[in-house]
Amino acid sequence: MAVTTDRAALNEWIACGWPEKVVPGGKYRTVLLGQEIEVRRTGVSSFEVFECDGHGELSRSLPVQAKYCCIFTTLGEPIRPLPKIPEFDEADRRITGCGSVGVHTSPFRIIENFLDMAHFSFVHTDILGAPERTEVLAYKTEHRKDVDEIWAIDCQFYQPAASKASKGGQMTHYAYRVMSPFSVMLYKNVFDDPTRNDAICLFVQPIDETECLAYMPLAIVDRESALTSIIDFQQTIFAQDRVILENQRPALLPLDPTIELPTRADASSIAFRRWLKAKNFQFGVYEKKAA
Ligand SMILES: [Fe+2]
Repeated sequence: MAVTTDRAALNEWIACGWPEKVVPGGKYRTVLLGQEIEVRRTGVSSFEVFECDGHGELSRSLPVQAKYCCIFTTLGEPIRPLPKIPEFDEADRRITGCGSVGVHTSPFRIIENFLDMAHFSFVHTDILGAPERTEVLAYKTEHRKDVDEIWAIDCQFYQPAASKASKGGQMTHYAYRVMSPFSVMLYKNVFDDPTRNDAICLFVQPIDETECLAYMPLAIVDRESALTSIIDFQQTIFAQDRVILENQRPALLPLDPTIELPTRADASSIAFRRWLKAKNFQFGVYEKKAA
């Protein structure tokens, strides 16, 4: 496995573990963009991350931040800070991680699947979508240049069981927010209350171009469901996505719009691919292989 030379990928903050994955004083090794790293927990909430050289010895010390239930590091020089997700600071929310899931595909397939509503009725049947209500209604996408994020707003979809707190079907309102090429989140209104949103994140750790770990931290309003059942719900959904993701070909994401023809429902995917192309991403994308 070679370390990527793609500066666009190297210069991002990337999740590389849960704080709870390691006890204070402990350490573990993992791989980021083809580079082996060692994560050390030096105190209750303090961490160090090191690059390992070809002999497994520690070489360079890397920047580290623990936030949103995850440990983040970077192999390069990030041009922006971690995104602000104020929902994680709201006192009445449940904040939890949902474990990490290994997925054999490119990080961008995982992000794109998270943005996609068209699969709800087919992949998450009777949970996030009903077989008789498959239509994706028109929504808007925006490139918010001040923060360099891709948003999809005014999204809505009929869901038989939108969350663990649901007591029946509802038209769920969504907003999606791509905060970096490796991190995305959504806001969806809680059951029967259009005024409050659950915040659900998906942070992707690319081990290499077609192997990832996915972390799904939540900041949700539901204070009644057992935490284990909330986590089970998310893991069930993601297990369904994982099957689809690992069967998509090519695993690398094509940025050329003529390779996978988009439909109107794919507006967010189009915006995401265009944004990656403008960043001149080479890592995890199909184009260079096709050249
Ligand atoms: Fe899904």
